[in-house]
Amino acid sequence: MRSVAEQDSAITIEDRPQPAPELVRLLEQVRWGSQGVRYVSHDVAEQLAWIGDGHYLHLRCGGELAATMVVVAKRPRQGIHSYYRTMLAVDERFTGRGLGAAIAHYARQHFLDQAAEPTVLYGFVDTANAPSMRIAERLGYQHLAELCAVDLGYVAPGDDHRVGRLGTAERAELLHRIVDTRPATPLDDVADALRTDEYWVLRAGGEIVAGAQACIKRMTITALPGWRGQLMLRAAPLLGWLHSALRSRRRAYVQLGNLYARRGADDALRPLIAAVLRRHGTTLALTYLDRRDPMLHRLRDARALGPLHGLAGASTIAVMAAARGVSPSVLESLRRGPWPVSALDRM
Ligand SMILES: CC(C)(COP(=O)(O)OP(=O)(O)OC[C@H]1O[C@@H](n2cnc3c(N)ncnc32)[C@H](O)[C@@H]1OP(=O)(O)O)[C@@H](O)C(=O)NCCC(=O)NCCS
Repeated sequence: MRSVAEQDSAITIEDRPQPAPELVRLLEQVRWGSQGVRYVSHDVAEQLAWIGDGHYLHLRCGGELAATMVVVAKRPRQGIHSYYRTMLAVDERFTGRGLGAAIAHYARQHFLDQAAEPTVLYGFVDTANAPSMRIAERLGYQHLAELCAVDLGYVAPGDDHRVGRLGTAERAELLHRIVDTRPATPLDDVADALRTDEYWVLRAGGEIVAGAQACIKRMTITALPGWRGQLMLRAAPLLGWLHSALRSRRRAYVQLGNLYARRGADDALRPLIAAVLRRHGTTLALTYLDRRDPMLHRLRDARALGPLHGLAGASTIAVMAAARGVSPSVLESLRRGPWPVSALDRM
């Protein structure tokens, strides 16, 4: 496929190690989500700072920033080269002209087609996002796994004195335990993604029995599915005033990753998550888990999803991946799953 960028000399694509200031503005204007839930993200500069070094693609149309995508090199445990592509976005004034496809095509060419080593390029796409799914499919990405966007909602999360920060000296032991309790798959980068400064643990008898990595984000919900959703959004200013759990504007939430519970200690997940929410001053958390991930069922069975779980509807996220030089057995093992959602893959 010849991309628009190759055909039109007014279009340029630059790959920068850091985002240009207008890229932050573009990402704060974009309406994310799909037919059901739509939202805009705030504090994007902070989110990009977490990503740190990456390939920030800037597509300009006549000099003006029109589209972007961020590509991050990963360091998985088993040494396969992989890249995570995220934040594909086109300025609303420029959508429907092939620019989303053009920037995605550029990313595939530069990070996969020209790779000398066996490489996987992957990203997460909401299955209800038709243009985005179409772009991935047209570029030959395969649907390797399905993730659930799991919302955890508490009305009045309680604190717990057993919950505290992970100590630097405890990291290696915890990492060992996380690896031990979750299925081994080739792209798991937990050794890199486990960040001590973001990690909370619940200790009992001096031992870590549960843990979760949390980073705070902020969004404004602009659409919710169905008539109930529309009604809720209309009433949001009043509801938000009555209870912060029902706020729709500049709503803080935490993205959770690297969830851990010692075998037989699933009951610790609920007080841990409640305390993490409390410490971050919010009532809502989001996490992304493969449908086949035992942690999804453990959270459910331990009633750790909270009484407000499901309020935002349920969206299904496809793991879309393209590979080059990767052996069929590795691809098979990726397909077998569960997909190891990295705490560094911040959507
Ligand atoms: C999704 C997005 C990046 C698409 O960018 P775009 O420049 O408008 O897309 P393109 O013009 O390149 O079109 C891509 C394909 O989607 C198709 N398409 C567009 N709208 C569609 C729709 N409503 N239903 C089905 N297909 C659609 C186009 O026909 C095209 O397919 P084709 O090449 O086979 O004709 C852009 O709409 C956007 O920024 N959305 C908000 C942020 C977002 O959702 N990002 C994706 C996160 S995974």
